[in-house]
Amino acid sequence: MYRILRKQALSENIKLMEIEAPLVARNAKAGQFIILRVDEKGERIPLTIADFNKEKGTITIIFAEVGYTTQKLGCLNEGDAVLDFVGPLGHESEIDNFGHVVCIGGGVGIAPMFPITRELYKAGNRVTSIIGARCKDLLFWEEEMRAVSQTLHVTTDDGSYGRHGFVTQVLQEMIDQGEKIDLVYAIGPLPMMRAVAEVTRPYGIKTIVSLNSIMVDGTGMCGACRVTVGGETKFTCVDGPEFDGHLVDFAEQMRRAQIFKDEEARARAAGSC
Ligand code: NAD
Ligand code: FES
Repeated sequence: MYRILRKQALSENIKLMEIEAPLVARNAKAGQFIILRVDEKGERIPLTIADFNKEKGTITIIFAEVGYTTQKLGCLNEGDAVLDFVGPLGHESEIDNFGHVVCIGGGVGIAPMFPITRELYKAGNRVTSIIGARCKDLLFWEEEMRAVSQTLHVTTDDGSYGRHGFVTQVLQEMIDQGEKIDLVYAIGPLPMMRAVAEVTRPYGIKTIVSLNSIMVDGTGMCGACRVTVGGETKFTCVDGPEFDGHLVDFAEQMRRAQIFKDEEARARAAGSC
């Protein structure tokens, strides 16, 4: 069993949990994910690692309560435990001194963007971060992102905080102003990652996205997480989760992400805890 040492509500339905998992923490690298199961009847869900502490032996996860399992997880409290917590899975991010890197986190995607941004900053890159949320209440980890960036831009869709608009508007303005950008990292909802890739494509700016596909086994056996990248079938769990954003078939990913939308809506309507 994997104990929850800390639980924090970042907004009404976004929760942070610090989980005691020393073996996972010992090997965790930025960009990787875990798969957890709350109890013996539970489904497996993948969550990208938001932070890790090798000394304490903990992994931090941040999730939005969007369906049955994330609601059930959100009902657990400090001192409770989850049954399975497997990882670290997937390839780690490629960290190097690329020059000027723009790190973009949208909504819950700010969480997995954080450890990658920190590593890129430590590697000597000039880091510009852009984080965005639908409104002020859904925004989190502004100070954490500021601490690992030379420049931080904040946007909200409704203008309740920071710049009014999408994260992509800030990116487009930077390009229009002639900023030299060597690499863009983007994590967030699929429409955001597709929009970022479309902004950078005409300029040939390398763009990495991290996919959060539906997964079952996490070992490349079941095919649940398949994605088409550059015309080839890949599996997010073993080939990803990061891919070249200019090569991902986002239309297919969006169709696949809809598969359980009805079940998720029913679970939300049924309520939690
Ligand atoms: P959201 O819908 O609130 O959007 C967050 C921000 O993304 C917006 O504020 C906006 O700035 C930007 N955005 C959204 N749509 C856009 C568009 N069409 N064009 C340009 N920018 C756009 O996000 P949310 O509800 O927090 O959803 C988070 C999503 O991130 C979930 O779908 C989840 O699957 C995904 N996610 C991915 C990972 C990963 O590792 N890949 C991790 C966590 C979450
Ligand atoms: Fe089964 Fe990736 S989750 S192949």
